[in-house]
Amino acid sequence: MTKNILVLPGDGIGPEVMAQVGRVLDWFAAKRGLGMTITQDLIGGCAYDRDGVPLAPATLKAARAADAILLGAVGGPKWSKVAYDKRPEAGLLMLRKELELFANLRPAIVFDALLEASTLKPEVVRGLDIMIVRELTSGVYFGEPRGIETLPNGERRGVNTQVYTTSEILRIARVAFELARQRSKKVCSCEKSNVMESGILWREEVTKLHAAEYADVELSHMYADNCAMQLLRNPKQFDVIVTDNLFGDVLSDEASMLTGSLGMLPSASLGAADASGKRPAMYEPIHGSAPDIAGKGIANPLASILSAAMMFRYSFGWMPEADALESAVESVLNAGIRTPDIAQPGLKTVGTAAMGDAVLAALEA
Ligand code: IPM
Ligand code: MG
Repeated sequence: MTKNILVLPGDGIGPEVMAQVGRVLDWFAAKRGLGMTITQDLIGGCAYDRDGVPLAPATLKAARAADAILLGAVGGPKWSKVAYDKRPEAGLLMLRKELELFANLRPAIVFDALLEASTLKPEVVRGLDIMIVRELTSGVYFGEPRGIETLPNGERRGVNTQVYTTSEILRIARVAFELARQRSKKVCSCEKSNVMESGILWREEVTKLHAAEYADVELSHMYADNCAMQLLRNPKQFDVIVTDNLFGDVLSDEASMLTGSLGMLPSASLGAADASGKRPAMYEPIHGSAPDIAGKGIANPLASILSAAMMFRYSFGWMPEADALESAVESVLNAGIRTPDIAQPGLKTVGTAAMGDAVLAALEA
């Protein structure tokens, strides 16, 4: 079965890192006979420049039809004056919302070879392997009412709404419990039920689902601020963390830094399977468009390459190939090959394309 992949490199370093992913996919097609049809389109600022919108209707249509989407990054200072609803990030949010990619999986794994790249002590992060499951299509990102209004007294007022329904909570909690069953069977659910009603509901619904269907998994609850603190104090206490859209945004950036570099972390955004079993899915690195280093050929392509490995695993069921690609990345790191973002003092650094070369060489070996 040939898989249709839509590649959306986006802005900044997106195109550079996605070019390396393209080479990796070509290798798997040529050497392992994997059937893939790859099409490419624009999203974000570059799409705005071409179409006047950050996600053109035709691109959205292609995204719906694809078996999986691989996205680079969106945004940059060039578009800082663009109207709010047309900014590059709006294209990404629209894609998440329109495809209902409600489950965002953000693994944070510390590779032994990169232990020194973390700002935390080696003993705190050695062997770390946690999975943040972030709700991605609801909460304060999308809640109504929202906006900026001018009050009768001339003062301005900005409003966003944090909102969750039972079904939204249950479906993301289910993803977390299912994942935990394949890992160390531990879920920590994070909210702020001490100050927010949506947090109270979140805690109650997760607790009920756990009792009814997932009693074999160990469930704990934590306030999100405490979780932020515990991630630095003792990150290895966690296995799967499930949380809402905004807390997940913050906690996953924090967790990524435990591993040393944002340049290493992939992510998957999954929807619900339809009647035919097809599940909308998008894979992207956690890092942004990094405009400061865009075009210099020094960006780390590993987060994007590891995102392709997640696509093999979660969308296509190509487990041996996912394992092979992840092992290739690990062996490149073990060989001391580093882009600047993950380099320890004294190690020679390579650029984006040379890192791609190294991964291809490791796949050959
Ligand atoms: C992320 C990013 C996005 C978010 C931005 C680019 C809209 O920070 O994927 O974590 O806030 O969700
Ligand atoms: Mg973020």
